[in-house]
Amino acid sequence: MSTNDRQPSAPATVGVVLVAAGSGQRLGQGIPKARVLCGGRTLLEHSLQGVVASGVARHVVVVLPADDHVLAGVVERAARATAGGTSAPLVTSVTGGTTRTASVRAGIDALPASVGVVLVHDAARALTPPAVFRRVAAAVSADVPAVIPVLPVVDTVKVVAGSTVMATPDRATLRAVQTPQGFDAAALRAAHAGASAGDPAVTDDAMLMEARGAVVHVVDGDSLAFKVTTPLDLVMAEAVLGQRALEQPGAVP
Ligand code: C5P
Repeated sequence: MSTNDRQPSAPATVGVVLVAAGSGQRLGQGIPKARVLCGGRTLLEHSLQGVVASGVARHVVVVLPADDHVLAGVVERAARATAGGTSAPLVTSVTGGTTRTASVRAGIDALPASVGVVLVHDAARALTPPAVFRRVAAAVSADVPAVIPVLPVVDTVKVVAGSTVMATPDRATLRAVQTPQGFDAAALRAAHAGASAGDPAVTDDAMLMEARGAVVHVVDGDSLAFKVTTPLDLVMAEAVLGQRALEQPGAVP
């Protein structure tokens, strides 16, 4: 058989690691951020809904704070709701670590070996449209082992040392980075194996791939994929859900 006769390879099985083990200190509600209510549902329920609605995932591992029975219950309900569906994912959970990197690693370790593409997503980006998951997953390939969704930067950004401005990077070259970030599974496992899970300077998974010289491509992000971090972000998320309820009365918020 010549190379031209070769059948296109089957699409890779996609697994999602949904990290929800953060404390949410900056939100100031005294409970893990994923448990915070928005439009009457937890942020974790909103983010799980986006993952499942995207239709890309065969496996979803939700990474939870230790002994959080409320969030474990959310995952169990999602697992029951999706069980047996032909295109619905298998939803499971695992306990996270003290850093985001440690939590992602726990999630990767819980995915089956059959997963060829991993999407790593922050549960705090609770309103991320399903299309972003599809866009990222579709762009990962053998030649492009890492794909991240980005938005243009609207502010001027300065590099500072203490209280002194050192430089002003050209804004046209800067992008704000979101999740889900998509990776070839073997490359992501290798990048995590070679990294220190305790390094606070590691703020996303693409950084670990860049450090190994991997090609990282960008696709369009979405302003609705903003990370709920501060009380103002929560007000914004509530407003988005309120607007949706007005436009689609009766729909799940
Ligand atoms: O703290 P940060 O805003 O970067 O958190 C981004 C995402 O990582 C959140 O969804 C949070 O729940 C998750 N995280 C985690 N384990 C940690 C810290 C953060 O799963 N130890």
